[in-house]
Amino acid sequence: MVIDQLDGRVPIQECTLVVTLEPCSHFGKTAPCADYIIEKGIRHVIIAAADPNPRVKGMGIAKLKAAGIKVELGYAEQQARKLNAEFYRLHESKRPYITLKWAESADGFMAAHSVSGTPVKTAISGNEANAFVHTLRARHEALLIGKQTLLIDNPELTVRHVVGKNPVRVIWCTNAVVDSTLHVFNSKASTVFIKNGYGTSDATHWYLQNNLPKALDVVQLLYTCNIQSVLIEGGAKVLQQFIAEGLANRIVKIVNPELFLKKGVKAPPMQITEKPYKLGKDLIYDIKY
Ligand SMILES: NC(=O)c1ccc[n+]([C@@H]2O[C@H](COP(=O)([O-])OP(=O)(O)OC[C@H]3O[C@@H](n4cnc5c(N)ncnc54)[C@H](OP(=O)(O)O)[C@@H]3O)[C@@H](O)[C@H]2O)c1
Repeated sequence: MVIDQLDGRVPIQECTLVVTLEPCSHFGKTAPCADYIIEKGIRHVIIAAADPNPRVKGMGIAKLKAAGIKVELGYAEQQARKLNAEFYRLHESKRPYITLKWAESADGFMAAHSVSGTPVKTAISGNEANAFVHTLRARHEALLIGKQTLLIDNPELTVRHVVGKNPVRVIWCTNAVVDSTLHVFNSKASTVFIKNGYGTSDATHWYLQNNLPKALDVVQLLYTCNIQSVLIEGGAKVLQQFIAEGLANRIVKIVNPELFLKKGVKAPPMQITEKPYKLGKDLIYDIKY
């Protein structure tokens, strides 16, 4: 903490502490900042903006005032909110940041069909685009797919082509999958099944408490489970649901302009007016809302 870096000769009780965000009042990744300020004997605190996190929301300020500290709120608030824009968006919308991502052929398919007409695992994008996707994975706290993608592709859902932390792997389903040979059951990252219907949630099964949930229910559940960003990697049904409900903050569509599948799993139809950029042989449409 910055207070600990002060020269020991500084009379801390005579100092004014100026902070961009309300000091927290709860135990999170660290102990409560408000308690530390009180313990250090600081008598005057200027706070740019209150904390919208329901676990703080004015309670940090109340704690400081109750300890007799002079508190001033609202100094340079707009600038402070700009600095922490993502943090405010998260708590005020009560939704994690949502990125939808998929790859499609030049003729608009996400996966080919086998001769018997069932979807099969299909490589669409090239190495450069794959590395970009792994960068996206590393920047999100969770990575969500639908159950069909799990069963058909048996994806690993980890960060491998770049250096980065593995997100939590989340599968949306009605009934969880128990085939322990699937890659999502390896120990490289944790895996959670978000399930339609009612039940008692535990570390690996989170119930939506709804038989016909919407994507918004999934998003709200992720927020209450402290997930701040999620990358939705498909398949088509899951992506469509998020698109239909207008939940995307960002859409990344990768198109292989040389691949024509003729039939298969249709990619979500999207009217995109933005121009793509080229990455290897692929075209990347990267749209932020
Ligand atoms: N090219 C790409 O970028 C890419 C990426 C991913 C996947 N894929 C391909 O996409 C294909 C699978 O796509 P898909 O559309 O058949 O299935 P999907 O979207 O992967 O999974 C659909 C499943 O999600 C679960 N789900 C639960 N509630 C839902 C709801 N309200 N809305 C939507 N889904 C819900 C359901 O599981 P329950 O049946 O248990 O209810 C449903 O069967 C595969 O062929 C895969 O290879 C391609």
